[in-house]
Amino acid sequence: MIRLLVNLLVFVINIVYRNRPYPRFYVLETVARIPYFAYMSVLHLYETLGWWRKADWLKIHFAQSWNELHHLLIIEALGGDRFWLDRLLARTTAVIYYWIIVAVYFISPRAAYRFMELVEKEAYKSYDKFLGKNQAWLRSQPAPQIAIDYYYDGDLYMFDEFQTGHPELHRPAINNLYDVFISIRDDEAEHIKTMVACQQPHAKHTLTSLHAGAKYFPRTFK
Ligand SMILES: [Fe+2]
Ligand SMILES: [Fe+2]
Repeated sequence: MIRLLVNLLVFVINIVYRNRPYPRFYVLETVARIPYFAYMSVLHLYETLGWWRKADWLKIHFAQSWNELHHLLIIEALGGDRFWLDRLLARTTAVIYYWIIVAVYFISPRAAYRFMELVEKEAYKSYDKFLGKNQAWLRSQPAPQIAIDYYYDGDLYMFDEFQTGHPELHRPAINNLYDVFISIRDDEAEHIKTMVACQQPHAKHTLTSLHAGAKYFPRTFK
């Protein structure tokens, strides 16, 4: 079922947005934030009911959604949200996916994380293909200001919080549009690693925030 949900999403995006990369990324990034919102909603409910308190996970998932928000802002700065029909499709899909993922997470958090692992893999592949096809052109284009602000001057506490694969702090260079898309693609790879880490059998006990201290969880999930 998880694979089916992802395939359905990818199929629709591939058909509708075959030759329109920015609107395609706009839809992808709008939907990409939704599972993190759904995870946080259910985790809040667990806390409210007194079932399980895991504030670290709320922080990690919020940092992930914050990163995806900046991908969305970058794509919007490039004009990906210009047409109302694209905005309507993205938002409608996002609302439907939100409730599906809330239900899945409530029944099986591991399945919900598996879902997002597959979505993030699709996002990585999508950006990687786009980079490969448009390398020369992207290198000739300037980076949007929002990308420079985010990767250099933004809330780097939040940027570091969702990183999983870098033993040292990661600070990407942003000199042109190619660098921007490289950074976005690499962020997607980090999200994949975090989603894999969340599915580990002992994740409940071992998965902690980067800023939580010595137990920097990602180093145990290479
Ligand atoms: Fe993204
Ligand atoms: Fe993503």
